[in-house]
Amino acid sequence: MTQRLDGTVAIITGAARGTGEATARRFVEEGARVLVADVLDEQGREVAASLGEHAVYRHLDVTQPDDWKAAVEAVTHHFDDPGVLVNNAAILDVGSIAGMDPAVLTRLVAVNQIGPYLGIQAVIDPMKRLGGGSIVNVASIDAIEGSNGVAAYTSSKWGLRGLSKAAAIELGRHGIRVNTICPGGGNSEMVAPFMEEAIERLKDMTERLPDRPIPPFNRRGQLDDYANAILWLASNESSYVSGTDLVVDGAFTAGKVEPGAPFS
Ligand SMILES: NC(=O)c1ccc[n+]([C@@H]2O[C@H](COP(=O)([O-])OP(=O)(O)OC[C@H]3O[C@@H](n4cnc5c(N)ncnc54)[C@H](O)[C@@H]3O)[C@@H](O)[C@H]2O)c1
Repeated sequence: MTQRLDGTVAIITGAARGTGEATARRFVEEGARVLVADVLDEQGREVAASLGEHAVYRHLDVTQPDDWKAAVEAVTHHFDDPGVLVNNAAILDVGSIAGMDPAVLTRLVAVNQIGPYLGIQAVIDPMKRLGGGSIVNVASIDAIEGSNGVAAYTSSKWGLRGLSKAAAIELGRHGIRVNTICPGGGNSEMVAPFMEEAIERLKDMTERLPDRPIPPFNRRGQLDDYANAILWLASNESSYVSGTDLVVDGAFTAGKVEPGAPFS
């Protein structure tokens, strides 16, 4: 049976753990060869080694144009021109607008928005040589709505969603598709450093503790829920889909429950 990414070479940023790692594993299962890229070198090397000859690790700080150039050269040399780029790497910080140093916003925008911008620039030529490609930008439900405490992260992810739409329009003529996925969750390691403080703030509101099940499915998203959505956007199954936002959150942001209206 043909695999869904047979013959495809993909670069996945932030693939040393979490959603990026899960995506690298799904891609290899579907026949892709993958450049596992991250700044966590030891973990990244372990992920790539566990995927055998179908994956190779490379240190790639997404904020560094030279790292991008070197990564694209390396993957082309090792496998072939990349036909898929997953801009997954990101960082989080938490705090009120009133209390947060603007330098935090600068740092988050550099990684979460400028990083993907540099990535898109770096793959245009190889994707043109291939006659097309698919770029998947991993945003968040924080790119669909706003909430308190994450203004810097939210700003960077809305920016990424806008970048995706502009890029989809500019690059469509080259057969390059650009889409966004907006996961409702991800790796708890990303949010863990901020949890103690959050739990302290929530101590009198136990029903809202961060490990609560998420309605209406009453479960949290699994990394493979996100990886499978990324896989679909990367594959030719979505060949006429570009410039879109795929929200993967079990209807969490779909709307509101109307009290008194029929419910089931
Ligand atoms: N964790 C969540 O709750 C959640 C929710 C919605 C969306 N997301 C998004 O999903 C994506 C994956 O995050 P995750 O949940 O797997 O968290 P994660 O922290 O495990 O993954 C992020 C990865 O990016 C890497 N990274 C950070 N800065 C980098 C840089 N400058 N260059 C290269 N790599 C860098 C990290 O080392 C890490 O491996 C991110 O875009 C994130 O914003 C996460």
